[in-house]
Amino acid sequence: MMGQRAKWLGPASILAGVLVISAFHYTTSTEHRYLHEIYQRIYYVPILLAAFWYGPVGGVGTALLTSGLYLYHIQRDWHHVPMYTFNQYAEICLYHAIGLLVGVLSSRERRQRRDLERTSRRLSEAYESLQKTFEHLRRADRLASMGRLSAGIAHEIRNPLGTIKGSIEILSGEFPADHPKREFLGIVHQEIARLNAIVEDFLRFGRPPQPSIQPTPVGELLDSTVTLLQKPARDARVKIRIFDDPQVPPLPMDPDQIRQVMLNVMLNGLEAMPDGGVLEARVFRAPESRRVAIEISDNGSGSEGVDMERIFDPFYTTKAEGTGLGLSICFQLVKNHGGAISARANEDRGLTFRIELPLEAS
Ligand SMILES: Nc1ncnc2c1ncn2[C@@H]1O[C@H](COP(=O)(O)OP(=O)(O)O)[C@@H](O)[C@H]1O
Ligand SMILES: [Mg+2]
Repeated sequence: MMGQRAKWLGPASILAGVLVISAFHYTTSTEHRYLHEIYQRIYYVPILLAAFWYGPVGGVGTALLTSGLYLYHIQRDWHHVPMYTFNQYAEICLYHAIGLLVGVLSSRERRQRRDLERTSRRLSEAYESLQKTFEHLRRADRLASMGRLSAGIAHEIRNPLGTIKGSIEILSGEFPADHPKREFLGIVHQEIARLNAIVEDFLRFGRPPQPSIQPTPVGELLDSTVTLLQKPARDARVKIRIFDDPQVPPLPMDPDQIRQVMLNVMLNGLEAMPDGGVLEARVFRAPESRRVAIEISDNGSGSEGVDMERIFDPFYTTKAEGTGLGLSICFQLVKNHGGAISARANEDRGLTFRIELPLEAS
């Protein structure tokens, strides 16, 4: 409404100006020549305004309108004063010259300002993307050094862990099934399995295997991942929904690795919804790029108490039993596919993770 009013306000005030000045010309007696000389100059106000606002078309257009109205008045009321008439004709020529000149200058100035704005916008975009690249590099560097460290530690732990496991199995034979202390053996077994899983994570993080690429339908991979999650999802009273896009072609990827990524992200989602909720996975062509996006969102605890800048960092965890390796492994695996993974807070509740994979192998 406001914009529309502003749009016709300019032309209307210019037109009104020209009409009012002309009315003064027509109604003032020729005895007051000094007044007519003033009116004649006031015509410059609407002409200049029109040239400023609407460029040469506005300037010359208003000059034309002005001279039309003014010429009739000159013919009718001033034909008996040839000297003054000559002066008036000269003024009319000046209306056009000035309308044109100021219009051209102002439209050139406007064009330059637009160019400048565009350049500054482009510059700030470039700066932003540089900043992102820098962040990316720093993260990659951090990942690499942490990776070497954790692979080293995991390697050192794995051998004694194997020895402990073997020894416990031998000792188990010494305890009959109904022995009162036998349950402790069970606990030791369980804890060894847990340590083993952590060591596996460390190793996977420290030495991510090269992906073995094959064309894989994303929707089917999602389905098979969700099948693995059925029991924990039922226990957590979480509903899982998949929205596949049949238009998306099979993508070049290592299906085991990308399943691992989906699994890590979805498990985090389940863990963020201890009181139940909905987990949604959506597949679609990322707009304006040769990539496919897989978005996984939950409506759990979200970003509260979480440092979103660090969630892909190794060992960053807010969980008592967490290793903080899940998302950093995802980050590496997706990066090795030439893709990207990012996280954002949902408008209402929970987080959305976006995994982007290229349509063609690089
Ligand atoms: N869906 C989610 N909702 C809320 N927080 C999340 C979610 N996924 C990840 N996080 C946060 O990111 C951290 C790192 O996750 P991850 O690397 O998988 O390690 P871990 O699960 O062992 O803590 C988590 O501890 C949690 O704080
Ligand atoms: Mg996790």
